[in-house]
Amino acid sequence: MRQNLDVGDRLAAASDRAARAVDRAIEATIAANLPNRAGAALNGFFRSGILMATQNPVISRLVRRFGMRLGASRFVAGETLDQAVPVLRRLNEQGLLTNTTLLGEGVRDRATALRVVDEYCRILDRIAAERLQTNVALKLTHLGLDLGEDFALDNVRQIVRHAAGHGNFIRIDMEESARVDPTLRIYRRLREAGHDNVGTVLQSMLYRTPRDLEDLLPLRPNLRLVKGAYLEPASVAYPKKADVDRAYRELAERMLLNIGYTAIATHDERLIAHVLKFTIDHHIGDDRFEFQMLYGIRPQLQIGLAERGHRVRVATPFGDEWYYFFMRRLAERPANLFFLARNLVKG
Ligand code: FDA
Repeated sequence: MRQNLDVGDRLAAASDRAARAVDRAIEATIAANLPNRAGAALNGFFRSGILMATQNPVISRLVRRFGMRLGASRFVAGETLDQAVPVLRRLNEQGLLTNTTLLGEGVRDRATALRVVDEYCRILDRIAAERLQTNVALKLTHLGLDLGEDFALDNVRQIVRHAAGHGNFIRIDMEESARVDPTLRIYRRLREAGHDNVGTVLQSMLYRTPRDLEDLLPLRPNLRLVKGAYLEPASVAYPKKADVDRAYRELAERMLLNIGYTAIATHDERLIAHVLKFTIDHHIGDDRFEFQMLYGIRPQLQIGLAERGHRVRVATPFGDEWYYFFMRRLAERPANLFFLARNLVKG
């Protein structure tokens, strides 16, 4: 069932190799010219700068107008479900599991949030009809969390029930730190009401996460562990990447040993190698965890792990509300700006 890389994959892989060369060049320049602390600060500066610029109306207008051409299409499987389905199928044929997301967040009117619920039910029907190995990840602010916690709970409950009817699973993404409490409360209420086909996400960058994990342990949760993609103050999150990575390692170990199912969501090869060794050393079976990566990022690593028999799920979003998602991908890696600039020059 697994197929060789097609032309699209080869292009993505070539662009990935080039981006890593740019990363290395940036790192080498930083190492040659700046002390380590200054290099890390420079990367942090780019990251915060891009995340802050996300709120700027001029930048937002420009990126929304030209972003798909400038590089957003690398991370998004299309603007419609019809465009996303063949992408999901191709990934499945390559031996990769997938999840999909209708892009969108921060919805502030009830009618839109209710339309999103209907859309997700339609997506779940289509996944079943197409027999895709795809589950769904969604954001609570897309379902109206800002309009009230009970409203968002009712909405996500409908989707979780609909998914259960198809034997499918819903992952509730984690948004910025101010949303962690309501998100975890909603997750807990769903689980306590007997819904088992739902999981959520914890972020290693937040100081609070080890405590959140301990609180969730009695639920035997299904959790995805990520580093965290949002701009957070030093009062709630580690400012240094080295601390975020160390926390990730520790949390991953605790999850693998103690929870129902762990999704290791990272493209960081050192962490992936650490998890692989840890699971062998502690006899943790392949049915207890999976790796997750984002569509368009490190495709060869995804396929390589799957070929070695590991479960790999590719998060493959679609929709026309890709702006915030795209800006977070740019912020994760300053070298991505190089591609944006190159695409700008190519016109
Ligand atoms: P790190 O940033 O150290 O990157 C390791 C390597 O991966 C880089 O050197 C580079 O090669 C590659 N890489 C990483 N990001 C890249 C990019 N944007 N473009 C190109 N190459 C890149 N966050 C969150 O706050 N809430 C959530 O719910 C989720 N959900 C989620 C699901 C899945 C499946 C993934 C993989 C990630 C998320 N995230 C997330 C995002 C996460 O918090 C984090 O920002 C990214 O995964 C980047 O961090 P890494 O762990 O890959 O490490």
